[in-house]
Amino acid sequence: MNTLNLSCYLVAAILIILALRGLSSPVTSRRGNYFGMLGMAIAIITTFVMNQAFVFWLIGVAIILGGLIGLIVAKKVHMTKMPELVALMHSFVGLAAMLIAFASIFNLSNEHSTTQRVELFLGSFIGAITFTASLVAFGKLSGKFASKTIIFKGQHLLNLVIFVAMLIFGMIFFVYESHVAFILMNCCALILGITLIVPIGGADMPVVVSMLNSYSGWAAAGIGFTLNNSVLIIAGACVGSSGAILSYIMCKSMNRSIVSVLLGGFGSEVVQDDLGAEKKSHKTGSAADVAYLMSSSDNIIIIPGYGLAVARAQHALQELTHKLIEKNINVRYAIHPVAGRMPGHMNVLLAEADVPYDQVFEMDDINNDFSETDLVFVIGANDVINPAAKKPGSAIFGMPILEAQKAKTIIINKRTMGVGYAGLDNELFYDDKTMMFLGDAKVCVEDLIKAIDDL
Ligand code: TAP
Repeated sequence: MNTLNLSCYLVAAILIILALRGLSSPVTSRRGNYFGMLGMAIAIITTFVMNQAFVFWLIGVAIILGGLIGLIVAKKVHMTKMPELVALMHSFVGLAAMLIAFASIFNLSNEHSTTQRVELFLGSFIGAITFTASLVAFGKLSGKFASKTIIFKGQHLLNLVIFVAMLIFGMIFFVYESHVAFILMNCCALILGITLIVPIGGADMPVVVSMLNSYSGWAAAGIGFTLNNSVLIIAGACVGSSGAILSYIMCKSMNRSIVSVLLGGFGSEVVQDDLGAEKKSHKTGSAADVAYLMSSSDNIIIIPGYGLAVARAQHALQELTHKLIEKNINVRYAIHPVAGRMPGHMNVLLAEADVPYDQVFEMDDINNDFSETDLVFVIGANDVINPAAKKPGSAIFGMPILEAQKAKTIIINKRTMGVGYAGLDNELFYDDKTMMFLGDAKVCVEDLIKAIDDL
């Protein structure tokens, strides 16, 4: 590699690091994305120029085709479908890492040193696990598979056996460079990716997605060593470490242990399926009822959830808030760290509707205020306010929730009495203080605005 190529790789690596820095705040995230795109473009062009032996047209066609597909998908995808798209992309990174390792192993002109064999082993097994695990995550997030916890007897033992088998085949490959052992090692890793993620319930998926993000980065970094490509090592390590930090933050806010996440199957010890429980009664109210209750309150906390994103009701909600503030009512938003389907989902929605930042409070900053709150308006949220999280044995046990149940009056807007993402019934719906305001969030809020105007 000559000095010019090395300098270009250095610039690309710096831009990728600046991209990550930019993405740490909504204000600088757009600039961060531009840095990332520029860095990646420089890295690709430099790689092209460096490797004269490449089949240029074939790689060029692949990049154009892949780029086009990516562009169309990214333009068409709804905000609510982003997490499953991200999971699918992680699976591509894992598959790419695995395929590069295979290409390197089966290219007979390649002799691999001891260190390279370790790199190939690490890169391909992490890649294979990431590939199938991300596909299962994609299935769960997109609703193609049940998002509920699926556990069966001997699950942890099975995972252990597969893991040990994978290590044994890896050792055989390492000692004898046996192709068969390499294939078997990857088969074990592919199966392990499935068995690790299947037991994880819907409510814990945010941690899984950030963990897979981290895995895909480490897989890319491992393959960067195999290809002796410094920019791939740096970009992979950046993704791997930032994903690991995000997983740690998620674990802390979900009250989960990082070790259980890495081993898979956390939150799966006991499963309590509340579906089909005895019929309970609940109160429902109209827009006029809710408008009256809101207008007679001094302070209101709004809890947005995934349903707000589905209904795209953020602009209507902002208009409603405006009307309530004009009536001298103190209105604040409470954001749960995993509300919606991706980190910061609710913050992005509210920012889109120009909700001032000083009205938006993170869970820890507002949770103590619920007991002094006249009315809580829950809009399209379910798991993040589910008191089942306080019951040992529940699939979401231990997850911190927004303490909506402590408010004097609770209004819950959703379309049906159905369950949330974790598949659990919510006893708050049947509480004496609760009034269900059923219907699509946008339609309901628009009705509510009219009802407030009519008061
Ligand atoms: P959920 O528990 O998914 O509940 C959302 C509720 O919105 C549903 O019960 C649904 O009830 C209602 N809804 C859907 N469409 C609606 C519409 N058009 N109008 C009104 N209501 C509508 O959401 P949450 O409370 O935000 O919790 C998030 C869940 O997703 C957690 O379990 C979390 O762990 C998981 N998760 C989060 C992430 C991240 S990073 N945030 C990633 C993956 C998974 P109806 O169908 O009856 O209307």
